[in-house]
Amino acid sequence: MRKPMIAGNWKMYKTRDEALQFLYNVNVQVPNNEYVDTVICAQAPLLRDLVKRQGDYLRIGAQNMHESTEGAFTGEVSAALLQNIGISYVLIGHSERRQYFNETDDSVNQKLHQAFRYGLTAIACVGESLETREANETDTFVENQVKKALNALGSEQVKALVIAYEPIWAIGTGVTATSQQAQDTIAMIRRVIASLYDTDTAQATRILYGGSVKPDNIDELLSMEDIDGALVGGASLSAKNFLKLVEAANK
Ligand code: 13P
Repeated sequence: MRKPMIAGNWKMYKTRDEALQFLYNVNVQVPNNEYVDTVICAQAPLLRDLVKRQGDYLRIGAQNMHESTEGAFTGEVSAALLQNIGISYVLIGHSERRQYFNETDDSVNQKLHQAFRYGLTAIACVGESLETREANETDTFVENQVKKALNALGSEQVKALVIAYEPIWAIGTGVTATSQQAQDTIAMIRRVIASLYDTDTAQATRILYGGSVKPDNIDELLSMEDIDGALVGGASLSAKNFLKLVEAANK
């Protein structure tokens, strides 16, 4: 009942020429969105050009936005502007934002509320560090992140958003969480949502795995009951690999 999603996070990669070349290569091959949703999250200055050329099925997302509607926040991007230029998705609380740009659980929560006000589908990111995992504190840590992120959101909103579980130790390291580790934590997140809302809400919310996802490990990850797709960094930079991931989810 949950439609899989493959979301690419290009991070701070690709010039305009490279980004447009990517779209030119993938647009005709992205399958219709009956069985899979496909998204590319790009740097802010690329977004308008990508939206204009997004084709019928691929959708474009931002990598961050500010929680305020407007104001003196030099260098930031507003939800109103993202909506205005036709953006569909926005990553919120990526671990790199939390680590390097002081993103907190509180700002993540405010940004989720703001995304809803402007009709953007948020992809809310959570995930533990290696230290936390080694101390056997993953569940407590991630549960806390999820509870704080969802604070004061209604169940219909939670059903509409996407959660991405990205263990920090698996991001860009080539070390993927085993499909069982990813499944276990994602199932735990679903239990947290059920305890905050109800089983219906927990069953309807899409939860992705992210961290060194590649064409050769996607099948195993997608075979797990609670994993609804992937948030992909490195492998999403190549049109060929991105399409392979989408194909694996389109079954
Ligand atoms: P990699 O797929 O490069 O490990 O990055 C994961 C990620 O951070 C996606 O948001």
